[in-house]
Amino acid sequence: MPTLVSRSIEHWRLLGMLAAILTGASAAAYGLAAGDSEGLRAVIRLTARTSLTLFLMAFVASALARLQPAAPTRWLRRNRRQLGLAFALSHGIHLVAIVLLARRDPLLFWQLTTLGNIVSGGLAYLFIAAMAATSFDRSAAWIGPRAWRLLHWTGTHYIWISFIVANGKRIPASGWYLVPVGLLGIALALRLAAKLRAGSRQAPA
Ligand code: HEM
Repeated sequence: MPTLVSRSIEHWRLLGMLAAILTGASAAAYGLAAGDSEGLRAVIRLTARTSLTLFLMAFVASALARLQPAAPTRWLRRNRRQLGLAFALSHGIHLVAIVLLARRDPLLFWQLTTLGNIVSGGLAYLFIAAMAATSFDRSAAWIGPRAWRLLHWTGTHYIWISFIVANGKRIPASGWYLVPVGLLGIALALRLAAKLRAGSRQAPA
């Protein structure tokens, strides 16, 4: 039964559903926090977390399908492109809320961030935009498989580091930030394990 459900929610339908959930949840978070700057902060925090969830799903999809082939992991691998695009959308909402906060309350904005954050986060956004733009058959074919692999490998790992830094620096404020850092560590370990397994399968007997 779960297989039937997951089979009907695939590819572009999945992306449409995720887009509706992300925009609806962001509007609700803004409204529940009574709008204004607090509402924008709620949207920034919410989308940082939805982005991490979607990023992790796309990041481990192929590794999990290799290590543990089963219907759910194959579903994850088949839909990793749409999960990646949903991550880009979620982080796009993060950016819109950041820009609105900076315009509405510059004093608060500069208490929450630094120029260094903007430069390193800006580079992450350049990668996200380039990766999203090349996540369609035509654009992927246009840049070619070598450039595509280089862009997506570098971008993905840069974003992984960005999440480690963004969550890691908040650990002194709350131990809960150890959870995302731990999940990111496990995700990287899964990818390395899958790579090692693929390597050992290819090695001559
Ligand atoms: C120009 C780039 C960026 C700026 C200016 C920025 C700004 C902010 C601000 C102001 C907050 C704090 C909101 C609050 O506490 O009320 C925040 C939270 C956060 N951001 Fe961003 N951000 C940027 C890019 C990124 C990127 C690229 C990532 C990760 C890939 C990221 C991940 C996070 C995380 C994990 C949080 C913590 C959310 C939580 O409390 O759970 N940000 N960001």
